[in-house]
Amino acid sequence: MADHLREDDRDAAYPSLSFVNNKDRDTPIMTHKAPLYTPKYQSHMGQQIVKLEATSCWYVVLWNWGSQWAARTDRKENFSHGIQMHGVTVLGTTSLYQSHPWVLAVLPNGEALGILADTTRRCEIDLRKELTIQLIAPSPYPVITFGPFTSPSAVLVSLSHATGTIFMPPKWSLGYHQCRWSYDSDKRVLEVSKTFREKGIPCDVIWMDIDYMDGFRCFTFDKEHFSDPKSLVKDLHHIGFKAIWMLDPGIKHEDGYFVYDSGAKSDVWIKKADGTPFVGEVWPGPCVFPDFTQSKTRSWWASLVKDFVSNGVDGIWNDMNEPAVFKSVTKTMPESNIHNGDKELGNCQNHSHYHNVYGMLMARSTHEGMKLADKNKRPFVLTRAGFVGSQRYAATWTGDNLSTWEHLHMSISMVLQLGLSGQPLSGPDIGGFEETQHPNFLDGGWVSVPCFLFVVGTLKLTLMTMNPGLLVWSSVDQCEEVCRLALRRRYRLLPHIYTLFYIAHTTGVPVATPTFFADPKDPSLRTLENSFLLGPLLVCASSMPDQSLDKLQCTLPKGIWQIFDFDDSHPDLPALYLQGGSIVPVGPPHQHVGESDPSDDLTLLVALDENGKAKGILFEDDGDGYGFTEGQYLLTHYVAELQESVVTVRISGTEGSWKRPQRRLNVKFLLGEGTMVSLTFIESLQNEVSNLVSASKEQYKTRLENAKPIPDVEKVSGQKGTELSKTPIELKSGDWALKVVPWIGGRIISMEHLPSAYAGACLNIPNVVYVILHADHSTSNLFVFTGSQWLHSRIEINGYEEYCGTEYRSIGCTEEYNVIE
Ligand code: NOJ
Repeated sequence: MADHLREDDRDAAYPSLSFVNNKDRDTPIMTHKAPLYTPKYQSHMGQQIVKLEATSCWYVVLWNWGSQWAARTDRKENFSHGIQMHGVTVLGTTSLYQSHPWVLAVLPNGEALGILADTTRRCEIDLRKELTIQLIAPSPYPVITFGPFTSPSAVLVSLSHATGTIFMPPKWSLGYHQCRWSYDSDKRVLEVSKTFREKGIPCDVIWMDIDYMDGFRCFTFDKEHFSDPKSLVKDLHHIGFKAIWMLDPGIKHEDGYFVYDSGAKSDVWIKKADGTPFVGEVWPGPCVFPDFTQSKTRSWWASLVKDFVSNGVDGIWNDMNEPAVFKSVTKTMPESNIHNGDKELGNCQNHSHYHNVYGMLMARSTHEGMKLADKNKRPFVLTRAGFVGSQRYAATWTGDNLSTWEHLHMSISMVLQLGLSGQPLSGPDIGGFEETQHPNFLDGGWVSVPCFLFVVGTLKLTLMTMNPGLLVWSSVDQCEEVCRLALRRRYRLLPHIYTLFYIAHTTGVPVATPTFFADPKDPSLRTLENSFLLGPLLVCASSMPDQSLDKLQCTLPKGIWQIFDFDDSHPDLPALYLQGGSIVPVGPPHQHVGESDPSDDLTLLVALDENGKAKGILFEDDGDGYGFTEGQYLLTHYVAELQESVVTVRISGTEGSWKRPQRRLNVKFLLGEGTMVSLTFIESLQNEVSNLVSASKEQYKTRLENAKPIPDVEKVSGQKGTELSKTPIELKSGDWALKVVPWIGGRIISMEHLPSAYAGACLNIPNVVYVILHADHSTSNLFVFTGSQWLHSRIEINGYEEYCGTEYRSIGCTEEYNVIE
């Protein structure tokens, strides 16, 4: 990290609001490579112009706005507006909800560099001239370069070191959120929530938009329709729902309204140039606006939030905080308004200085209020307006989108972009916020986008729309079913997603990243916009009409990428690939996070790399609170290794004092073409470094030597499986082993087979046997070693067949088992 500011300008620069510690900005950290990219400063008509020129060709990946994160060659101005940052607006105007004067550039060799213009002022970023980044803002400001580092991820780690990482989200907030404008009564809120449960569609949160308020007055409840919020929340909690409530910054200008009265008494409002409070129109009519740049205002707001939380509030939604003001050309307040800011934030300044950080300061204050209410709970705040560093206090969403294919497609890159400027917790309004539904909206096809976002997205994964009645189940049946499947996937993936958030919180590594992060050197990956990574997991989705997944070609990075599903494949669901060399933890598809228990079955999906190795981690804790900061968590490092035909999965290290739960551990090896083999056993209670599959190579060898050889292992010609599945892979648990014939491609057929009580009895599980078909689907071999017996099965199939569960006796399939002593 290098701060490039002329010495004589240093004093003139305003304090940093993006940095966690202002002083860090003034402490350059030079790496051996710096200053490869040194900005040049120049003043012109009161503006500071900073240029950064590349000596060799480079590839500018993003600046944080707009529909695409791929190379951009235009200019944008950072100034938050309370209007759409989507579609036409973004292409035709400079309007945004958030301001991130930040550019991430990837060099041809895959190294990456970040450039932050650390100014709260209106800042223009101009990328029109090749190899040049030009930044223009009205007053002196430092430009901080991060890197070049060996990867874009390393740039983001460095950025987070400076501007802070995401707050640790409560686990429930990573579930599905149901949100729309609006539910007209507590009755309706409960009815919607109950329907989720009745229909078996997973959901954790329901959101209350402005209509719960009494005349849109913040911190009040409508006396008739939301008369007893505590009892509503009690009922919601009873069925496993959390409740998030909206709080806007516009406070009704009305004597006798307790919030207005106390704010006026404490003198917390933003002033006009003449020193009187500014009054602007928002939902409740004429409003005043808290001046969050003052610590006394932030404390005043935080104490209101604290009292508000006692109604059973689980999370708070800060909307309209650009701040949006109706009936004004700029959609916000006059730049001449006055903020009496704290010294450390920049002292008394007009609104143009603080405009871009207003939303972040509001979110900070709301976050503090929630913490005051209960220091043992992690606050959950959602903010619409934001700045570099907002992730310390709040999550965000992409604002009012339209119900169009274009906007649905854009959601992907917008969520990724936010991640690439340090905000990993974001999501779009799924289904679109405004405009009538696209005619294709009810086609089976459209659901691929939301479903994909259900998986990616991190929150406000909502069917939220002004169109009355749109809910997951109010569309066609097929759509409801696909949404259910998608959400079940999301809940299965929660152990992995929660682990990614822990990593993001502790290190700054982003949660969802563009596919090129898997191989930043490969230029062909840099423009992909229909896939993304969740760590080593690649999600590839169709986001265009009439382009369901079966018609879509997923471009995969080099190396091994094993496709898999949860026995739920559907053309409207995204394709999932696990990178060779990785292990990801997955859990059961609960209806809500509160339903989960540490003793739940845990599944490790394992994809070996070219060297037969894989690794992955799992973070576990109470899911809320701060025990994890005092060691009450469990971070498990799993490794898998294939050596001489034996795959060993073991724990290579653990961190934390949280007790390892006693649970069934299921290990699924992904072998290519959707092929999987699976073993289940009890995860060790005590062993720090415990062998999970193979007791030891020696033991294993002895067992095999004592066993009778398998006669007539027929070699079958045809398309091979993946490189790693060499001859034959043998997997074994304490009491049984599975031989997987290596040249197999094709699909898995799973069958329940109970040849003797012996195999599964000791673990009280059925002996699940996976039969893997040869790629031409003509024959396959299965060998199961159960204690003292070898079972040999052969399946002849004419043409393509798929089997699951008990349907193993489908037409065209013959099976025979020979017990060979
Ligand atoms: C604007 C927000 O963007 C939207 O999500 C919300 O429903 C409306 N305000 C009403 O509160």
